[in-house]
Amino acid sequence: MIAAFLFLVGLVSQTAAHYTPDWTSLDARPLPSWYDEAKLGIFIHWGVFSVPGFNSEWFWWHWQGQQPPDSKCVSYMTKNYPPGFSYPEFAPQFHAQFFNPEAWADIFKASGAKYVVLTAKHHEGFTNWGSPNSWNWNSVDTGPHRDLVGDLGEAVRNRSLHYGLYNSLYEWFHPFYLNDKKNGFKTQDFVMHKLLPELYNMVVRYRPEVIWSDGDWEAPDTYWNSTNFLAWLYNESPVKDTVVTNDRWGAGCACTHGGYYNCQDKYTPGQLPKHKWEKCTSVDMLSWGYRRNMRLKELMDLPTIIHDLVSTVALGGNYLLNVGPTADGMIPAVFEERLRGVGAWIEINGEAIYASKPWRVQTENSTVPVWYTSKDAIVYAIMTAKPPNLTVQLLIPKTSAATKVTLLGTPTPLSWGPLNPGGGLTILLPELPYSPGQAWTLKLEGVQ
Ligand SMILES: *[C@@H]1O[C@H](CO)[C@@H](O)[C@H](O)[C@H]1NC(C)=O
Ligand SMILES: *[C@@H]1O[C@H](CO)[C@@H](O)[C@H](O)[C@H]1NC(C)=O
Ligand SMILES: *[C@@H]1O[C@H](CO)[C@@H](O)[C@H](O)[C@H]1NC(C)=O
Ligand SMILES: *[C@@H]1O[C@H](CO)[C@@H](O)[C@H](O)[C@H]1NC(C)=O
Repeated sequence: MIAAFLFLVGLVSQTAAHYTPDWTSLDARPLPSWYDEAKLGIFIHWGVFSVPGFNSEWFWWHWQGQQPPDSKCVSYMTKNYPPGFSYPEFAPQFHAQFFNPEAWADIFKASGAKYVVLTAKHHEGFTNWGSPNSWNWNSVDTGPHRDLVGDLGEAVRNRSLHYGLYNSLYEWFHPFYLNDKKNGFKTQDFVMHKLLPELYNMVVRYRPEVIWSDGDWEAPDTYWNSTNFLAWLYNESPVKDTVVTNDRWGAGCACTHGGYYNCQDKYTPGQLPKHKWEKCTSVDMLSWGYRRNMRLKELMDLPTIIHDLVSTVALGGNYLLNVGPTADGMIPAVFEERLRGVGAWIEINGEAIYASKPWRVQTENSTVPVWYTSKDAIVYAIMTAKPPNLTVQLLIPKTSAATKVTLLGTPTPLSWGPLNPGGGLTILLPELPYSPGQAWTLKLEGVQ
């Protein structure tokens, strides 16, 4: 009897979560619910590229990889560094001496974000943790002499934020990778002896709840062994029940296979996608990594960020907003100000964002541009501009006698009247309060 019972339990838990290493099976896994509810995450690009702090996190490639090289990168090196200076010589200058993971996590928490994704390893191959597969090219052996991935993870989780790790599959200059590439990816020395041992180790050590995969596009998923890794991740790994991943698991996978879809960087769909997606974008419009020569006009201002967040959420996406810390370990004050500004806006309007669902119509331009979200029977109409006077018309909602309209952040219900017999309403607004993100939310109850 007991044996039969145990057998049944085993059978149930197996059928409940057993994925086979093929896309049909893996793509059918439901996304753990925390992810869609979270809506907002913070992305952090930090690595040896933060030391030159010039051009972007692609500096090494632009300087010495691509043909022809970027002349600005070449002359930056000629003018500022001794002849023969090599990229790995930047690593000892990655000091991170001011890195205070608690202070960073406080800023992320204050932004209203619910998850944080750090570059554990970018295309340069340097790991921000003591990877045994990246000898002397990691943050413990050189540079900060510190487990950056582990230390930030503790502080982030301590504030009840989910912790994710970005991992680049390819490494521009790894000799095994270059050799596999020369062999038309018919050999897998890089994957078997570098990538996979490191990736499995990273998951077991740090238990990331997002694996933000990247650098996949030169080779097919069969080269990366992606489906085997994902089957292990979903069936057996210590994060099998909560982890989410994106769609960068091999050439042709983007927007097609994996967990949620990133499609391309800064993806902005025109209408509601069928599959859960995430827009990743950067406060510095020209780079993900820190640039010492960034200018204010090259950064997104707060209203731009908020409007981007709002339209992304209305279209069913999550918003992953990037900042690039300095090699000293500081989040530049201007980025901190943006993140705290996002938090100040969310403090008032978060009800329309977190755990919301797309509504039957996502946007309309009547008096002002409006983006809709919904939660159960409630509809939120987020105005991303200030109406020219104190009346606003919404064409889409169908009102009833029970319709009630409020402005988030103000207590009193607003007066409204029906617009057309078929639907729509005119709302009398109060003097709109200051909004740091230049966006105001109307909460509509009793509408359809
Ligand atoms: C954060 O850490 C403190 C002590 O360092 C602990 O008391 C607290 O419970 C932790 N909070 C969470 C959410 O883990
Ligand atoms: C890689 O994939 C092959 C074939 O799909 C499989 O036999 C092998 O076990 C995989 N290796 C790892 C380390 O995942
Ligand atoms: C609203 O206006 C913007 C800017 O003119 C336009 O791009 C967008 O397509 C319009 N949306 C709708 C639903 O009409
Ligand atoms: C308010 O502005 C709209 C145009 O957006 C206009 O149609 C309406 O007549 C104005 N109402 C008042 C009271 O000025």
